[in-house]
Amino acid sequence: MMSASTYDQTKPLLVLKGVKKAFGHHQVLKGFNLELYPNENVVILGKSGSGKSVLIKCLVRLIEMDEGHIEVLGRSMADVEQDELDAIRTDVGFLFQGSALYDSMTVRENLLFPLRRHPGRMRGRSEAELVREALGNVGLEKAADLMPDELSGGMKRRVALARTLILKPKIILYDEPTTGLDPITANEIIQLILKLQDELMTSSLIITHDMDCARVISNRVVILQDGINYAQGTYSELARSTDPKVKAFYKEVQNPIDG
Ligand SMILES: Nc1ncnc2c1ncn2[C@@H]1O[C@H](COP(=O)(O)OP(=O)(O)O)[C@@H](O)[C@H]1O
Ligand SMILES: [Mg+2]
Repeated sequence: MMSASTYDQTKPLLVLKGVKKAFGHHQVLKGFNLELYPNENVVILGKSGSGKSVLIKCLVRLIEMDEGHIEVLGRSMADVEQDELDAIRTDVGFLFQGSALYDSMTVRENLLFPLRRHPGRMRGRSEAELVREALGNVGLEKAADLMPDELSGGMKRRVALARTLILKPKIILYDEPTTGLDPITANEIIQLILKLQDELMTSSLIITHDMDCARVISNRVVILQDGINYAQGTYSELARSTDPKVKAFYKEVQNPIDG
């Protein structure tokens, strides 16, 4: 069995080809294609209900697609057995929409949860050390003993980020990382994501409908529209598009091109 960690870094980390998914008669994904390369931040931009969350859940098989091909770190997701799927999932961090912290656990216990499920990921370090480092990464050194309901929305998002990063994933999937935050806090979270990606050399897929987030964080933007990868380019390339469906995303933006 090939370990995901020995994967060749010059190939795409993620490949999606012709991914289709329907719920009953509602065809949400109609043949979506995407590649994510090392050190890239790809933003998937889509309206609410367009299938963004469904897409990233298909990626890590939290939802089974109906048709298509998905490769994560060189492995076809359809072929892997459960133990290998678990290994791949530790290489792919997932920051869920909202923060999804365990409300009955302290911040420390929330951070220890993934570590205890994957003790092989401790890299010879102690739990205390890893928790301290993870909280330091997100600027919350003193929060270990707090309960989630004692945290602000922005702090919760930071803890969730720390919990995702503690296993040192190679790819991070962010589902609407700024939704529900005020603009200042949203910007702090975006800056933090950029800083951590730089330090930890991860690649990410960021799902959002927040144009500020897309502008600041993306190397490349893919528009999910009508169930397919409708358009792609850099944020400013897409800002110059004459396609009405692409233009619709930019209509609220003040200075779309020089942004
Ligand atoms: N488990 C499910 N069962 C039925 N319909 C679903 C399920 N999950 C998502 N959907 C539908 O798929 C569409 C896309 O949902 P989603 O991916 O959550 O949208 P978004 O782009 O806002 O993240 C929506 O119409 C939603 O109602
Ligand atoms: Mg969603």
